[in-house]
Order: sequence, then structure tokens, then C-alpha cells
Amino acid sequence: MSYTLTMAKALSGALRVPSDRSLTVRALFLAGLAEGESRIVQPLASEDTEAAQACMAALGVAITARNGAGEPALRIIGRGLRGLRAPATTLCCGSSGTTMRLLAGLLAGQAFGAVLDGSDQLRRRPMRRVTDPLRAMGARIEDTNGGAPLYIQPAPGPLRGIRYAMPVASAQVKSALLLAGLYADSTVTIDEPAPTRDHTERLLRAVGAQVEVSRVGEGTAVITLTPPAASLRPLDMCVPADFSSAAFFIVAASLVHHADLRLLNVGLNPTRTGLLDALRAMGAQIAAADVRDEGGEPVGDLTIRPAELRAIEVSGALVPRMIDEFPIFAVAATQAHGVTVVRNAEELRVKESNRLEGFLSELRKLGARAEPTADGFIIEGPTRLRGAVVDGLGDHRVAMALAVAALVADGQTTILGADCVAKTYPGFFDDLARVATFDSKP
Ligand code: S3P
Repeated sequence: MSYTLTMAKALSGALRVPSDRSLTVRALFLAGLAEGESRIVQPLASEDTEAAQACMAALGVAITARNGAGEPALRIIGRGLRGLRAPATTLCCGSSGTTMRLLAGLLAGQAFGAVLDGSDQLRRRPMRRVTDPLRAMGARIEDTNGGAPLYIQPAPGPLRGIRYAMPVASAQVKSALLLAGLYADSTVTIDEPAPTRDHTERLLRAVGAQVEVSRVGEGTAVITLTPPAASLRPLDMCVPADFSSAAFFIVAASLVHHADLRLLNVGLNPTRTGLLDALRAMGAQIAAADVRDEGGEPVGDLTIRPAELRAIEVSGALVPRMIDEFPIFAVAATQAHGVTVVRNAEELRVKESNRLEGFLSELRKLGARAEPTADGFIIEGPTRLRGAVVDGLGDHRVAMALAVAALVADGQTTILGADCVAKTYPGFFDDLARVATFDSKP
């Protein structure tokens, strides 16, 4: 499917973007391992979370949806730490890297084997970052030339506790090791070079596991999980809106000249909101209100108004805190005065697409002055973008970032392969059409 849109005159109203993908996947996994009935209210329904849910169902976890009056919810009957069933077939993770990497950890210590596979896109993504440390814990897990399919043999006994210094700041690696640690004979300790999303730590505590975090020096942390002596408690939680989905509207409302947009119930976990820090440093007008704690995660409402943006430099510990937001940040940078420089972001090459080379070349088709570097990019602004035919590259965040660029581009922009937004945000274009007023109909 392709999607065509034109420059936006205005952006207004209130929107509750879909729920958080990272939290929904983690909640499904931990609810499956808990003893008893969990309730997850407002789970994300998207390709990634459907893949995670199907994998848990294949492992014997009963999951039923309640979609009638009131908020949608999932009821999950956990099978306990030792109660999962051997899957009858390959576990298909679709294109969800989070599902595959976290499941690798969760399954490494089971008494049964499993095969994890996924789409061609997922098969291209690096898996040794999880299989290497899991093998060091005693797991019998083989990758395929560093990627999927992953072949997991039954664990001969408990996994070994480990202290592991992560070479890349990755929440997925950290989470895989913490989940494997539930099946270890002693503590699992992870040295994190910079703060990454800490949803797994928060949810593990919510189900009763013992997780300690100590900050050592700037940004670095040591995270220790003690293998649980008792069963895990079920979850009863409501999933907030995904900050990474809100990000597209935050930037859109910062750039479109007549904008006054409210984003409701947005997850504001500080390990996720690096984009807010970056945009505010650029001069963006973003106000957070009614910030509250919901189920152990900070949540609030954001109001965004347009602003003249100034270029900034982004590097170091800020990078993992906005790791999924670089495509949309790059769009903001095209409209900022000066030269925006991003460093220490080589991880962007191994996301759903190569978000340095591939994405920037699509952005250049709209007239952006944007060049990749070895570990980031340089963008000169402001540039008057002009509509063109661009490709979503099979990457949800690339397609959505290009759609926001189209709102400030002259004429008409067509995004090819726009349906890839369904990975995390199936209704993205409908929501955009609801809050935007366009100059002309395409
Ligand atoms: C995620 C962690 C990040 C992020 C991904 C989701 C998670 O990946 O890019 O979209 O849910 O843990 P890395 O851990 O590889 O940085």
C-alpha cells in the first residue's frame, strides 16, 4: 500500500496514540511465567505484539481478549516458572526483534527445546549479542550465521549466574539476560554502559522478583537479579501510550505552523524520553501535565505548540534514551537553524532498516541536506522540503517519519510500502488525518 499526503495547514486536537510495544511484550512474557491470572488493560494490538502473544500461546499460555464495553484487556493464565509447554512448531517472532531476543533469554533455561524464527527482515538482525552471553550462562543455543533461526536445546540443569559487561547499551540484551536469570543458580549482574529502557526491571519487581540497580558514575549502572525462590505474582496493569509513537506527533506539532496538539496518557519513563530533552534543547514548546505513576511507570499528558528550532549535537548517554526516535529527530533537524550532529549512534544501522544510510537517502529525496557519518549523521537546516515519491523501506518508523516530513513539504508526497506502520501503529494514517488539516486533497 502507498499513502499520499500534502502539506499540513494545521495540527490540533487531542490524541491517545496506541499503547507501548516494549511494555506490552514484556507484560505478556512475565504474565505467562507468573502463577495465576494476570490482567493487562489497553495492551498494544499490532504485528509485533501479536507475534509475542502467539509465541506465548504456543508455549501453552491461555490468553483471552476482552474487547467489549470498556477498555480492551487481555486475561492471561500464567503457567508458573516451570510450567511452560514445549512448542509443537517453530516459534515465529514475525519482525519483532524484542520478541526474539527476550524469548531467547526466557527459553534458554527451560527443560525443553525450541526454535525461534521470523521474517527475512528479522533474520538479517544480529542475534549474537544475546546468544553469546546466554551461552556463557550455560545455555545450549545456536544461531544461524549470527542471526535467526535460533535453535535452543533443553537446558541440562540450572543456568549459571554471570556478571556481564554489555558492549552495546541494549535493553533487549539486558532483558534477555534478566529473564534467563530467573532460571540461574546464582545472581545475574549486568554492567550497562549507558541507561537503556528499564521496563523489564520495573515489571520484574512488580511480579515479586528481586532486582537491584546501582548507578556508578555518569550514566553507567549495575543491575543485579537474584533468582526467585518463590513463584512470580500475576500482573494487573494498564499499558500507557507509547512514547515512541507519540514522538511522530510531538515533532509534527513542533513543525507545522498552526499547531496546538495534546497527547494523552503518554508513557514518560525517563529512559525513553531523550527526544523531549533533545527537542527542548532545540527550543521546542512541549509541556507535560498531570504526570502520575501508573503501574510503576510515569505517565502524563503532553501539549505541543510550534517553535523555531535550533540545531544541536546529540551523543553519549542521550543516544540510547532516544534510540528509536532518530528518524523523526532527523526530520526535526531538517527544519532547525544550523548544523545538527549525531554521534555514537552506530546501532541505527541494525534496526528494522539501516536508519543511517537508507533513511537519510529517502529524506534527501525530499530535499533534505542530510549525510550519514560512521556513527551518526549531519543535517543542515532549515530546508524547504518538496514532495516526492519515497519508500518506507519496510520500517515502521521510517514510514511514519517520512509522513511527518510530508506535512512540511511543498506539494505532494507518496510513501511506498506505508503499511509497514502496522508493526507498532496500525492506525497511524487515520490518526494523522484526524488531527491534521491539509492544504489540499492529494
Ligand atoms: C527495545 C529496545 C531497543 C529498541 C527497540 C525496542 C526493547 O533495542 O530499539 O525498538 O523493547 O527492549 P536495543 O535494546 O537493541 O537498543
